[in-house]
Amino acid sequence: MIDIETIRAETSGVQTVNHLNNAGASLPPRQVVDAVVEYLRQEELAGGYETAATRIDDLDEVYRATSKYLSCQVHEVAFTTNASEGWWRAFSSVPLTVGDKILVNRSEFQANAFGWLQAKERGVDVEVVPNTAEGLIDLDALSAMLDEQVKLISMTMISMSNGAVQPAAAVGELVENTNAIFLLDACQAAGQLPLSVDEIKCDFLAYTGRKFMRGPRGTGILYARESVIDKLGPTPFVDGRSALWSDQTSYRYHDHARRFEMGEFSYGAKVGLGVATNYMLDIGIDAIAARIRSLATSLREQLASVPSVVVVDEGGHQSGIVTFTLEPLTGGSEPTDLSEIQAALGQRGINLSAPMCTNAQLDIGARSIQQVLRAGVHYFNTESELSALVEALADLVD
Ligand SMILES: Cc1ncc(COP(=O)(O)O)c(C=O)c1O
Repeated sequence: MIDIETIRAETSGVQTVNHLNNAGASLPPRQVVDAVVEYLRQEELAGGYETAATRIDDLDEVYRATSKYLSCQVHEVAFTTNASEGWWRAFSSVPLTVGDKILVNRSEFQANAFGWLQAKERGVDVEVVPNTAEGLIDLDALSAMLDEQVKLISMTMISMSNGAVQPAAAVGELVENTNAIFLLDACQAAGQLPLSVDEIKCDFLAYTGRKFMRGPRGTGILYARESVIDKLGPTPFVDGRSALWSDQTSYRYHDHARRFEMGEFSYGAKVGLGVATNYMLDIGIDAIAARIRSLATSLREQLASVPSVVVVDEGGHQSGIVTFTLEPLTGGSEPTDLSEIQAALGQRGINLSAPMCTNAQLDIGARSIQQVLRAGVHYFNTESELSALVEALADLVD
């Protein structure tokens, strides 16, 4: 059981706003904000390098906490400044040549698409694994597509524009006995679902700190399996934290996941992500997942009863991301401008977002949906906040 009263008392923002934009950026707990501010205050008084030298243990806590969450080794965790940076550092280290193949799923996020579209421009084949009618990756099709040429599977576990949770562990099972590297974007999954890399069997896993993890902005994680390092080519964007300039003509990467890190970032924010990760672990990720699922199911049911609202989530197992559109209003045929609805809800103190198909062309783009309204429900939300959204929507539609 989650002690919602205490959690909400530690989440200052809930007093002023009905925050259902946790898939964009969540409200951090007070403990996280305090840790970042306190670190900055120390930097203000002592200097950045001097502060870091005395706070090594706090700075390293993010590795220990993340390794507990992901069930991995501490040295398999790299701290990054966002999910895309982590994804790109992994992706661009995978040696790919003309004729190699990348498989991607339909949930892929735009930043990842830019990576494999660039690879395609260089002669690498990119194939999209189809979905089943339910909206989940078709495992039979994937199995048939996994030939010798496939060097990389890039998969997004939860699309930013669809509640479906893709079966990452079933994909990992299929990829395990091939030579392909499995790169998982868990950006929308981290903080709302258990993520064990032993079960998922991925080689890389990337996520951001600011969404369901409730960490500070400008933070992220890249998990890199120890055994994947030997399969990689050169890693671009390297500095003295990633590698050592060993003599005038040579260098070597630092061991393990550290090769994916650079030395300059917000040190206070890094401490904050460690605090946020422990905060989540203390509540319990299974309890978090259960509460999010129950709230999101309730919201989908309530939305379905509002005239003109169409819930467009797919998948048997659905996450805290609830997406919906509006049928043309006032008897017209023009699509309703969902950004206007988002702004009108914002004026009523209700935060949600309105992603476009340009963020997820293989998902909502392929389903001919231009834009969706997206509520990202977190465990600190309440049934009355959900009802407030449903009532406000009904009112606006009216
Ligand atoms: C599924 C998914 N992957 C990746 C990202 C990119 O995250 P970041 O902005 O931290 O790079 C997002 C952000 O919305 C996302 O939803």
